Amino acid sequence: MTGLGGRPLSPASEFAVTYHRGDSAPGRQVGGFRQEYVALHAVPVIDREYDLDVLRGLLQRTRHQATPHLVTVLGEPGIGKTRFIMEFERRVAANPEAVRLLVVRSRPVIGEEPLEVLYDLVASCCGILRGDSADGRAYRLAAERGDRLLAMLGRLREEFGDIVKDVRGKGLMIRLEFHDQSESTSEIIRDQAQAGLLGYLFAGYLLRVHAIRIFPPASATNTLRLEPSVYLTDDEIARADKGLRDLIAVLRKQDGETLLHAHA
Ligand SMILES: Nc1ncnc2c1ncn2[C@@H]1O[C@H](COP(=O)(O)OP(=O)(O)OP(=O)(O)O)[C@@H](O)[C@H]1O
Ligand SMILES: [Mg+2]
Repeated sequence: MTGLGGRPLSPASEFAVTYHRGDSAPGRQVGGFRQEYVALHAVPVIDREYDLDVLRGLLQRTRHQATPHLVTVLGEPGIGKTRFIMEFERRVAANPEAVRLLVVRSRPVIGEEPLEVLYDLVASCCGILRGDSADGRAYRLAAERGDRLLAMLGRLREEFGDIVKDVRGKGLMIRLEFHDQSESTSEIIRDQAQAGLLGYLFAGYLLRVHAIRIFPPASATNTLRLEPSVYLTDDEIARADKGLRDLIAVLRKQDGETLLHAHA
């Protein structure tokens, strides 16, 4: 590791870093870090009030303007960067708005643009790999999110095979097919099924009771069509799971009244 711009670190950091002389290049080469100075973090923080105020002010400004502000803390090894950030984190922990600190130990930045570290940090935080195109990322997300969603629906199919006929699809274009209900013991369900409106009955129930918007395709009304965004979250999948389980339970009871009229 070197200082910014490839400048060799001063021997003052020798208590923290082991060095040996490079073969050809001038200066020293780093053998490795001796240790983090974690043990000393217990000592009360000294002489950082002014700097902490600067960060506090920036945080307030960020809230007020609702725009992000990136703060970079640079300094010699062992100068107190980590401790400073820890202290800031401790003091803002009580705030209602969560502050998220990203900590990374960077690759050496010899001969490269030092600010690339920030690019890497933000990108990796969003799950983007180096050299990834935006397209590649979206396709990968679609495949991964789709598998998650399919797994959830597949479990419903396994558990409730009497109600759920089939689950199929790829990526984020998925179909959930229900068994025909035109012989239902409930007059409401029977009528809707015979009129080709079964999927709309289900969709209405999910929307009113669970605030979930899943509609049937026009061509197959025993079916619900799931085509969510690549930003579908695990929480949303869990919500869909809960809503569909409830729908299935009501359907098992052949409770047409609830399907048609229930509200949240
Ligand atoms: N303001 C301070 N008051 C008291 N102790 C401090 C202060 N700043 C740092 N220290 C202590 O000095 C040691 C080194 O600090 P720290 O680990 O924060 O350095 P660093 O700049 O993050 O080092 P590195 O470059 O290796 O990541 C730690 O034990 C830390 O608790
Ligand atoms: Mg540190």
